[in-house]
Amino acid sequence: MRRKVTIVGSGNVGATAAHWIVDKELADVVLIDIVEGVPQGKALDLLQSGPVEGFDSHLVGTNDYSDSADSDIVVITAGLPRKPGMSRDDLLMKNYAIVKAVTEQVVRYSPRCILIVVSNPLDAMVQTAYRVSGFPKNRVIGMAGILDSARFRTFIAQELSVSVENVHAFVLGGHGDTMVPLPRYSTVAGIPITELMPPERIDALVQRTANGGAEIVGLLKTGSAYYAPSAAVTEMVEAIFKDKRKILPCAAFLEGEYGVNGLFVGVPVKLGRNGIEEVVQIKLRPEEEAALKKSAAAVEELVEIIKV
Ligand code: LAC
Repeated sequence: MRRKVTIVGSGNVGATAAHWIVDKELADVVLIDIVEGVPQGKALDLLQSGPVEGFDSHLVGTNDYSDSADSDIVVITAGLPRKPGMSRDDLLMKNYAIVKAVTEQVVRYSPRCILIVVSNPLDAMVQTAYRVSGFPKNRVIGMAGILDSARFRTFIAQELSVSVENVHAFVLGGHGDTMVPLPRYSTVAGIPITELMPPERIDALVQRTANGGAEIVGLLKTGSAYYAPSAAVTEMVEAIFKDKRKILPCAAFLEGEYGVNGLFVGVPVKLGRNGIEEVVQIKLRPEEEAALKKSAAAVEELVEIIKV
């Protein structure tokens, strides 16, 4: 059976996610945007790479949500990206209006889909999609933790000159300056990095991870990161379609887990065919719990402004 993924937003994140997804033949892809011609052009161009790359996934670019009907997964990347000097939170009001309108259209045509939200500020935008869709919480997921931990993994692998495949990293909290990388649960071939690096090096890598998005924005100057964010989306799509029950850090709606209630915050979840199969809970140390509370409070501030 062919699966269908709709990606809303044909900018860099959306188009690159389409690229990874069709190249892995995970699904047929519908690329939607309000800009006329761009989703059509990118989808057609990507489709024409199929004979060279050897994939048979179909691609359609469109401005019409009816083409997205009966998608299994809808990825929302629509919204403005950051410019240098902006925080993710500076995007709040504009992207709230966009994500709200997009979600309304999406659920009309795909009432049974799983929603993956990528737009920033991430935690507040996924909460918007959750409220507007009325979907159960297992079917609304925010992409951030995989990206943040991929950055941390990259820096750890560089520092120790080991394969990235040996490195697992653990990042909790909101996708913002208050994110909470957990070094004692970040490992190289099973060995905690706290055994492999002095504390000041770990602090430097943690700092660089928390600033990882801004570092790229500062270099690109015209927008924000997209290769790693779209690879992270693809890992989520793959885990869901293959029912891998893979434990990945994602933004999930918490109702008491980790002492957080009624908010989306980044936590480890088990991703499978139903979306979030389970929020994985681990015991935190008091200082880690305090950092997570602070991060949740930062998410709550945004959510209160847009009242979702
Ligand atoms: C980043 C943006 C996409 O972290 O939030 O790069």
